[in-house]
Formats: sequence, C-alpha cells, structure tokens
Amino acid sequence: MTHVPVIAIDGPAASGKGTIAAAAAAALGFHYLDSGSLYRLVAFKALQGGVPFDDAGRLAPLAAALDVRFLAGGRLLLDGEDATSAIREEAVSAGASQVAVHASVRAALIERQRALRRLPGLVADGRDMGTVVFPDADLKVFLTATAEERASRRHKQLITKGISVTLDSLLRDIRERDERDASRQAAPLRPAGDAVLLDTTHLSIDEAVGRVLAMYRTRKNK
Ligand code: DC
Repeated sequence: MTHVPVIAIDGPAASGKGTIAAAAAAALGFHYLDSGSLYRLVAFKALQGGVPFDDAGRLAPLAAALDVRFLAGGRLLLDGEDATSAIREEAVSAGASQVAVHASVRAALIERQRALRRLPGLVADGRDMGTVVFPDADLKVFLTATAEERASRRHKQLITKGISVTLDSLLRDIRERDERDASRQAAPLRPAGDAVLLDTTHLSIDEAVGRVLAMYRTRKNK
C-alpha cells in the first residue's frame, strides 16, 4: 500500500497549533485536519439541541452523525450551513473540552479523522494526533508555550476582532482547559513518547513553521 505521510502537531489550547499546522500543510501542499473543530462541532450541536455536555449517551450518536464539510480556505459547513465562526465562540471552546472527555465521543470521531489521510499527505493538529489517531505519523511535534504567553496571544487576536475580554479571564479559561484536557482518562493531552517538543514562547509563527518543515525534510531524507 502507498504510504501517505502524516505530520501530527499536538499541544495545549492557544499554542498556535492551528496556524502553524495550516501553514505547514500549505507549504507542503498537504491536506490539513483541524481535529479540534470536530469536538467544537459536537459541542455546538449539543448547545443547539439542549444536550448537556456530560450526557455521553446522547453526545456520541451526535458525534457519529455530524454532517460536516471542510471547504478550502479553512471554512466548514455544518448541516450545509457555514459554522466557521460560530464554533470559535468561547462557550463552544469550553464545551468542546467537556464533550472531549467522553471515550465514546472520541471513538465516534476517530475513523472520520483517519479518512482524511490522503495523498500527497496530511498535517493534523489536536491533542491526540500523535498518541492515538496517527500513532505511526512520520513526524510528531508537541508545541508548548507558557499559559501567560498563550493568553496574551489570544487576547491580541480577540482585540483585533473587536471582541473585548480581560487577559485575566482568558488566562483562567486557558488554565481550566489545560487542566481538563490533560487530566481526562480518555486520550489525555500529553506528548507521544516519540514526539519532538517545540517551545514557541519566543518564536514567531514563521520561525515555528520553519522548524516543523526542517524537521520533516530531515526525516524524509533519512
Ligand atoms: O484545538 P481546539 O482548541 O480547537 O480544541 C477544542 C477542544 O477539543 C479542546 O479543548 C480539547 C478537544 N480536543 C481533543 O480532545 N482532541 C483533539 N484531537 C482536538 C481537540
């Protein structure tokens, strides 16, 4: 069978995974999977349907039945409607981390993620890309950055969008999500044994992307 290369990029909330992974995918001409968007979509559907985030029995079928289409340019359609910005709201972010604790929800999403592994290759970002979904990935990168730096990046992003939130509340939310993502039983946030740690606290996006591409090219040429 033809080998389809995968680069797995995992890390905590607001570590820059999405931006770095999408840029690396574009540079290589690879497909891109933002796995967090699937958990966000489940949370969004749950909010719409009044399903509590702790009701795994109702959330798992909802995850299995997600009608999602990923469009070029990072936009996505849920039930045929553009849900790109709706799933980025803070209520959905917090909900995503809560629905993601359920093993049955995770299991319902796993094949959907693996199905996106197609030629010429895939860059996938999330929490468990290297540990669970693509354990045989060609390169696994685990991004880190201090919670303060991540809260400050997010703060700047929101301000540019005209959304006003305090740095303190963002820092609190990020710490809460880190704690929940790292302490859950099912696929907790942790680096795979063979992942390369990349601390982006003092790196620009371009520098971080450059490091990922350099690591991938070195491996490929071995
Ligand atoms: O990457 P993100 O912030 O969009 O992810 C939203 C939530 O989804 C995050 O708090 C944890 C969960 N998640 C997960 O459990 N596993 C993944 N592979 C991706 C995201």
